[in-house]
Amino acid sequence: MNTPAIEASLDQLVEATRVNRQVYLDPDIFDLEMERIWGKAWIFIGHESQIPLSGDYFTTNIDHKTPVLMVRGKDHKIHVLHNRCAHKGAKIVTARSGKIAGAFRCPYHGWTFKHNGNLLKIPNESGYENTGFDLNDSCNNLQPLAQFDSYRGFVFASLSDQTPDLKTWLGGAIDCFDNLCDRAPEGEVEVAGGVLRYEHDCNWKFIIENLNDTMHPMIVHQSVVQSAEAYISTLDADAAKQKQEAEILLPFGASYENFEDSGITGFPYGHHYDGGKTSIHANYSVMPEYHKAMIDRYGEQRTQGIYAFNTHNTLLYPSLTIKCAIQNIRVIRPVAVNKFIVETWSFRLKGAPDEMLQRTLLYSRLINSSASMVGPDDLEVYRRLQEGLASNSSQWVEMHRQFGRDQQLEDRVTGGGTSDLDVRTQYKAWRHYMLGEAML
Ligand code: FES
Ligand SMILES: [Fe+2]
Repeated sequence: MNTPAIEASLDQLVEATRVNRQVYLDPDIFDLEMERIWGKAWIFIGHESQIPLSGDYFTTNIDHKTPVLMVRGKDHKIHVLHNRCAHKGAKIVTARSGKIAGAFRCPYHGWTFKHNGNLLKIPNESGYENTGFDLNDSCNNLQPLAQFDSYRGFVFASLSDQTPDLKTWLGGAIDCFDNLCDRAPEGEVEVAGGVLRYEHDCNWKFIIENLNDTMHPMIVHQSVVQSAEAYISTLDADAAKQKQEAEILLPFGASYENFEDSGITGFPYGHHYDGGKTSIHANYSVMPEYHKAMIDRYGEQRTQGIYAFNTHNTLLYPSLTIKCAIQNIRVIRPVAVNKFIVETWSFRLKGAPDEMLQRTLLYSRLINSSASMVGPDDLEVYRRLQEGLASNSSQWVEMHRQFGRDQQLEDRVTGGGTSDLDVRTQYKAWRHYMLGEAML
């Protein structure tokens, strides 16, 4: 489809209970998604703990083509800047992270910029006299993103100045950041243990639609669960550590009833989580030393309240997923209509014993890495989706499950844990961004 044709048909691509296959296949629709969804929403950039000191920086893309730079200023404030020289446009920094001593220096003609992006110096400046060039014009700085802000250390930015403020945009899904951080005895988390990057050769929406698709684990991950069970049955009684590790895989075989009980909660702007009262992580054992640190900090009642908020996966549409009880996140970045990258970052709970971090890292490796037993299962079905949807046999992908049973509350929608409420929530947001429709 060409762009005028897409504009004319955009309204017909997403209905209440079905989606046209072209939203996964058409490169022009992908370009419009980049402009209207990724160019308007708050996109997760990184965590403040990645740049603890003045001059520390971290780089990423905000969409498929816009390089950005998160840097800690001399005043300790965080800045999110376009990673593009104001002179002739060279990308300033190519490393994923690092530290600058004095200033950012462009590798092409040597313009230098302060930590906050302001132009510092131009070599051989005399050639600009009487040319109309103004050294102090802000257009000569590294440009800040239209908006950036953070909540409990999680930094987001937006290419649009029209998007509502971050807290309003997060809505009730903000509870997941609070729960993740409150699980730390010191009330703060920090990135630890590196990153797992995983390229997927399929459309970016498949992973966020799979996230709380609770009708698939018992099918797609059946062989993993069976292998884990078979392995556990071979272990001696004193192999507690191996047993504990293999048991991480078992919840992926949870029953339909189990998943149904966990419920799904949707919010404006496409965010949602499954669980809350219970989830497949509800029985994740609490280490005694950790539990003591939590009681010392919060007292028994509040500690139980923190454990009891049991979400499985949370999506902050479209770029971030959180596992509170596991202490890891996944960051999504589209590359093309049939390619995206997902990064898994793990967190240390400040004040918790090191075993908690080791368990998180183990989980990330076992479930989310390219060498894991679970993530590649999912990628295999995403590839089949990409291939199958290219067929002209039908134009539609359906999402009817439990339609009409959703409960509309003041700021959220709730429904059964095996419903398609999660995808319907996402496509409501898709229509909001792509067509300018109102949220909720
Ligand atoms: S492009 Fe950066 S100094 Fe010329
Ligand atoms: Fe899965």
